[in-house]
Amino acid sequence: MIKYTNSLDNITTNHLNGFFVDWPNPPSVTTHHKLLEKSSYIWLAVDDHTGNVVGFITAISDEVLSAYIPLLEVLPEYKGRGIGKNLVEHMLSTLSGFYMVDLLCDQELQAFYEQFEMIKTQGMNFRNYQKQSGI
Ligand SMILES: CC(C)(COP(=O)(O)OP(=O)(O)OC[C@H]1O[C@@H](n2cnc3c(N)ncnc32)[C@H](O)[C@@H]1OP(=O)(O)O)[C@@H](O)C(=O)NCCC(=O)NCCS
Repeated sequence: MIKYTNSLDNITTNHLNGFFVDWPNPPSVTTHHKLLEKSSYIWLAVDDHTGNVVGFITAISDEVLSAYIPLLEVLPEYKGRGIGKNLVEHMLSTLSGFYMVDLLCDQELQAFYEQFEMIKTQGMNFRNYQKQSGI
């Protein structure tokens, strides 16, 4: 069974393998754990048979008006079971008091986010690929 939690209690780096699929220079499990600690809000999907994290979503916020969702991922072998949808729903509920909730995604994922009544917009970004594995 998949359980959802917004706590890192009992989650170690040993529970964080397999993420950042297709990232050329992915964060290590230590860096992954650190970014979860430092995020304003997180939700994790945990397989209670193994204790492993199989999906996660993060948000960072000014705690006044706005929140940004930088990361959402479900492990490949767990995709298509509603885990991504549940993670987004948990996070949007957590962020429901904020005026602005933003994220960036590729065009092929816009339909995924539209199911949560998010709307297409325009944005800009900058990526420092030398820092893709974290600081
Ligand atoms: C995007 C992602 C999180 C979806 O997770 P998932 O657990 O496989 O998705 P779910 O099973 O919860 O899908 C829920 C619904 O969204 C739909 N959906 C899933 N991926 C979709 C996509 N790329 N485009 C449109 N709809 C999509 C599903 O068909 C499903 O619809 P249904 O409820 O009518 O059956 C997952 O594919 C992933 O980790 N991708 C790689 C990382 C990534 O792209 N993250 C997003 C960065 S912005």
